[in-house]
Amino acid sequence: MRHLIDPLDFTVEETGALLDLSECIAQNPESYSETCTHKKLATLFYEPSTRTRLSFESAMLRLGGSVLGFATADSSSAAKGESVADTIRTVSCYADICAMRHPKEGAPLQAARYSRIPLINAGDGGHQHPTQTLTDLCTIRRRKGRLGDLTIGLCGDLKFGRTVHSLVKSLVRYPDVRFVLISPEELRVPDYIIGEVLRPARAAFREETSLEKAMPELDILYMTRVQRERFFNEEDYVRLKDTYILTSDKMKNARPDLAVLHPLPRVNEIALEIDDDPRAAYFEQVQNGVWVRMALIMTLLGLTGKGERTC
Ligand code: NCD
Repeated sequence: MRHLIDPLDFTVEETGALLDLSECIAQNPESYSETCTHKKLATLFYEPSTRTRLSFESAMLRLGGSVLGFATADSSSAAKGESVADTIRTVSCYADICAMRHPKEGAPLQAARYSRIPLINAGDGGHQHPTQTLTDLCTIRRRKGRLGDLTIGLCGDLKFGRTVHSLVKSLVRYPDVRFVLISPEELRVPDYIIGEVLRPARAAFREETSLEKAMPELDILYMTRVQRERFFNEEDYVRLKDTYILTSDKMKNARPDLAVLHPLPRVNEIALEIDDDPRAAYFEQVQNGVWVRMALIMTLLGLTGKGERTC
C-alpha cells in the first residue's frame, strides 16, 4: 500500500507516468467514469479549502466512486480531542482512500503510520502540498511541453507557502531548471529549501526582491498569496500582503510565451485584468487539478494495471 505524503514519494518516472495518465484522462474523461465504482474517498479537512477538497471529490465522483468526510475540524471529533491516529484508524473502516489536510506540519505523515488505506497529504501547515505540485507540473508540461530547461520565478510568500516548497522539491529533479525566488526579505524560502533541496541538487537559483527585474527572463511565473493564517501578528501581514501585484504593465516586459500560475486562492496579487491575458494559466491549472487527482486516485488504488481502462 502506498501513500502520497511528500512530492518525492513518487520518482520522476512515476510522476511522468501519472502525468501521462492525467493527459489521457483530460483527452477523454468519460471513458474513466466507472473506474472506481464501489470505491469510497474520505476527505478529512482540518483547514479551509475550496479547490483541493472539491477537486478530490469531483475526481472521485467522475471516476464513478463516492465521497464522505468533513470540511472543518470543529465538525469532527478533533473538537473533542481525538488524535489523527485514532481518526484515521476509524476512517480506514469506512473508506478505500483518504485525503487529509491539517494545519499541523507532519500530521498526515503521522496519520499514515496508522492508516490501513492509502493516505494523501492535501496540505500540512506551511510544509508540503504534493497534489498541488502534481497539478502545477501537469500545467507546466501542458503549456511548455517539458519540465526541464525552464526559468521559473516563484513570487510572494516563499516562507509559509507550502505549494512553493513542494514544487521546488519536485522540480530540482528535472534537468536545467533555473529558479528565481522573488520575495520580501521577511518571506524568503526557509533555509532547509536552500540547504537541503536546492544546493544538494546543484540547482541554479537566485533570490530577488524585484518582480519587475526578474520578469523578462521567466518561462513560468508562479504567484502566491501571503499566507495570513500563518503570521504571528496582523501588522506584519498588512505590511507585506501587497508587496507584489501582477499588473498588465508588468506583463509588458514578460516573454510572449510566459505562463502565469497561481495555486489560488488569489487575494490581491494578480490584477483581474490579467485573467484575459493568454499567458494566464491559473484557471486551467484548476481544471488540471481534477485530471491529476483522478490519475492519483487510480494509481494509489492500483487501478492502472492490466485490464483497467488506461489510455
Ligand atoms: C494553496 C494551499 O492551500 O496551500 N491552495 C490550494 O491548495 N490550491 C495555496 C494557498 O492557500 O495560498
